[in-house]
Amino acid sequence: MKLYVIVPLCALFALTQQAPSTECSCELTTLEKLFPHHKLVAVEDSALKCNSDITPQKVAELDSLLLGLELRLPQLQEDVSMLERENDGQLYGVISLQVIENELMQINQLVARLKSATLSHQHLTANTTEQLEDLKAEMQELESYDTMRVVNTQRTNKRLKKDLDQCKSGLYPTTKPIQPPRGNCPHGQFLNITGPRVYTAGEYPGSYKYGAWGRDPKPEAGKESWYWRVMMTSGNKFSNYVRFYSSLSSLIVGVSAPGNVLIHAANPTTNTIQGPNVVLYGEALYYNCYNQDTVCRFNLTTKTVINFQLPKGTRFNSKGNFCHLDECYPFTDLDLATDESGVWVIYTTTQDFGNLVLSKVEESEPLRLGQTWHTSLYKQGVTNTFMACGVLYATRYINKEFEEIFYSFDTTTREERFNVGVFISKMYPNIQSLNYSPVDQMLHAYCDSYMVSYKVLFG
Ligand SMILES: *[C@@H]1O[C@H](CO)[C@@H](O)[C@H](O)[C@H]1NC(C)=O
Ligand SMILES: *[C@@H]1O[C@H](CO)[C@@H](O)[C@H](O)[C@H]1NC(C)=O
Ligand SMILES: *[C@@H]1O[C@H](CO)[C@@H](O)[C@H](O)[C@H]1NC(C)=O
Repeated sequence: MKLYVIVPLCALFALTQQAPSTECSCELTTLEKLFPHHKLVAVEDSALKCNSDITPQKVAELDSLLLGLELRLPQLQEDVSMLERENDGQLYGVISLQVIENELMQINQLVARLKSATLSHQHLTANTTEQLEDLKAEMQELESYDTMRVVNTQRTNKRLKKDLDQCKSGLYPTTKPIQPPRGNCPHGQFLNITGPRVYTAGEYPGSYKYGAWGRDPKPEAGKESWYWRVMMTSGNKFSNYVRFYSSLSSLIVGVSAPGNVLIHAANPTTNTIQGPNVVLYGEALYYNCYNQDTVCRFNLTTKTVINFQLPKGTRFNSKGNFCHLDECYPFTDLDLATDESGVWVIYTTTQDFGNLVLSKVEESEPLRLGQTWHTSLYKQGVTNTFMACGVLYATRYINKEFEEIFYSFDTTTREERFNVGVFISKMYPNIQSLNYSPVDQMLHAYCDSYMVSYKVLFG
């Protein structure tokens, strides 16, 4: 069609040059309908709106509420049967009844939240289905303007290319998958991460961007189901207490029955908490002591703090932080971690040129630094670390949706890997702390004030 138009135009041009006084006009009629650009824009807008309406957060919200209920109901059942056994009309019965009332109230709260979430999801599904039908119809209409069948051909090409790729990879079998690091693991070797399994705003939705949460791998009898949370309450940097929840569902609903355990009334002051990467282990909180290159341990029973000195040259006071390209996470100099073998500390020193250093914390009294390993991983290229089965894992920021566990260091073999390649699907862009719980193989992340957990798969 183009050629047909161009040739007469050239001829016209030659003609006008020869006889400049002659005015000449031509009418171009096209059989094509004009492309309705405004319609395409409207379709794009609706698609964008659909995308922003349905977020992974909304999906995970139901999951975590259900999980809360799932954990809560057997507890209630157990308590009720205990009440039945005790039913002698005496004091114990009254106390158990109060406990059960309390639990029922919390379950009711969970159910109410579940109900309202379900309702709003139903509406959202109905609306979105309708919107999608509309979008589909409009796209089909728009496609009718594609008289040259560009879109259709592109689609065919894509399919052919996929077939070709499949053919190729069939001819040259793909290289064997990389063996994940072994470690010294009772559950087998580290394979993958799934989840999020729990995702909750907890008691203070949107507040306290920096913090940590989890459960004590070595709790006192009777506190097996407790969860803890530490929030940086002063300038996103400091804290002076640890807050407890009697179960995961209490944490989700935001009812802290055991409440706070205070380290010191002032915040910050000597031996209070600096930075979010803290852990609870054996009824004690391990953390970076305020304004020092030392590890503190706060004994929850005696409410006393002891500490030990890290090697000279250890970077502290926000000089050796976890980072990604756009920013560093302030006061993340020391990362405390737990695994099957106890407590670890991950940090960096001047003599290691900013590379990660890993030390075992000997929990005996006096508290002291145990065996130390030096890695060749530069800390500023890492967003967080955790330990599992004696293997150190490091993560890096990929984009707002994904964090990658890319590195591992096996303390048994000293083998380093830079190609672990396991992805963590994030609910919010930044992970301020990450810790592995050896009791249930969950990875607890504190993510822009949200508490999120993932299941670590071994096999
Ligand atoms: C669904 O659409 C109705 C009416 O268009 C609107 O009132 C309602 O807020 C929408 N619900 C959701 C969840 O988007
Ligand atoms: C790990 O899990 C993710 C999501 O569940 C999955 O897409 C991926 O293929 C898994 N990777 C391996 C190596 O199994
Ligand atoms: C805390 O103190 C008590 C009493 O001295 C002691 O029995 C316990 O082992 C201490 N806990 C830790 C983790 O040091």
